[in-house]
Amino acid sequence: MKTILITGCSSGFGHATAIYFLERGWKVIATMRHPRPELFPASENLRLLPLDVSNAESIKRAIADAGEIDVLVNNAGIGVLTSLEGMPMSTAREVFETNTLGTIAMTQAVLPQFRAKRGGTVINVTSTVTLKSLPLLAVYTGSKAAVNAFTESLALELQPFNVNVRLVLPGLAPTTDFGKNAMPRMEQTFLDAYQPMLDGIMAGMHQPQPTTKAEDVAAAIWQAATDPNAPMRIPAGEDAVAVANQTT
Ligand SMILES: NC(=O)c1ccc[n+]([C@@H]2O[C@H](COP(=O)([O-])OP(=O)(O)OC[C@H]3O[C@@H](n4cnc5c(N)ncnc54)[C@H](OP(=O)(O)O)[C@@H]3O)[C@@H](O)[C@H]2O)c1
Repeated sequence: MKTILITGCSSGFGHATAIYFLERGWKVIATMRHPRPELFPASENLRLLPLDVSNAESIKRAIADAGEIDVLVNNAGIGVLTSLEGMPMSTAREVFETNTLGTIAMTQAVLPQFRAKRGGTVINVTSTVTLKSLPLLAVYTGSKAAVNAFTESLALELQPFNVNVRLVLPGLAPTTDFGKNAMPRMEQTFLDAYQPMLDGIMAGMHQPQPTTKAEDVAAAIWQAATDPNAPMRIPAGEDAVAVANQTT
């Protein structure tokens, strides 16, 4: 029986992925900043561990408590939709600290055990905004594009040790808590000059259109975890597949 450790399981893609793998007989270590057992079905294959990916001590403790794992999913992430002008640098740092450095630190923490056993898979969740740019997302997109580049270089570095590294790129998923969780960062110092741009983006997002469901992301992560021939970049969601096809 294989074990997967997933970051950011309190909602959205992480929560759906934890349940998807549990339903398919895997041992799941669902991590989140504040563990909430009531979010999950009772299962002897499920462990909840506290983990803040922006905190080195928290990472060390969670990896030690987790023991041996086969797959790491770096899913935890935060967003911000706002003009760069006016954005406090502390917000830019917070986004990179979680999305980019959190992913790098978690990956570094599992490598000793993966290299020693000549096996294991790291799956990094980024976004299709790295394939097709949108305005007001420069910092968020930068944080995720950095993970794409990091992942593709690391895959070459880890090939001799039989450690797989993959990217899952979801499209727009309005049903997760992502927008709600991003709100406090967006309300800081938004400049009126960018309001028409924001209105245009919000109107576009509310048009009926194909979107990504949390289950699509769980299925893409399943493919990355179980198919050794999975491509490096796996788009997740109908809209994501369309964007990936346009850009390749
Ligand atoms: N929704 C979209 O449209 C979309 C599209 C493309 C890619 N993505 C990416 O997909 C991933 C999951 O997003 P989602 O849509 O499922 O959003 P979500 O519902 O907001 O889930 C994000 C998760 O990350 C956790 N998190 C935030 N900061 C953390 C930290 N420092 N340490 C540990 N956990 C932390 C949150 O936990 P707390 O409860 O502790 O806050 C939450 O469980 C993110 O990386 C996001 O960038 C989302």
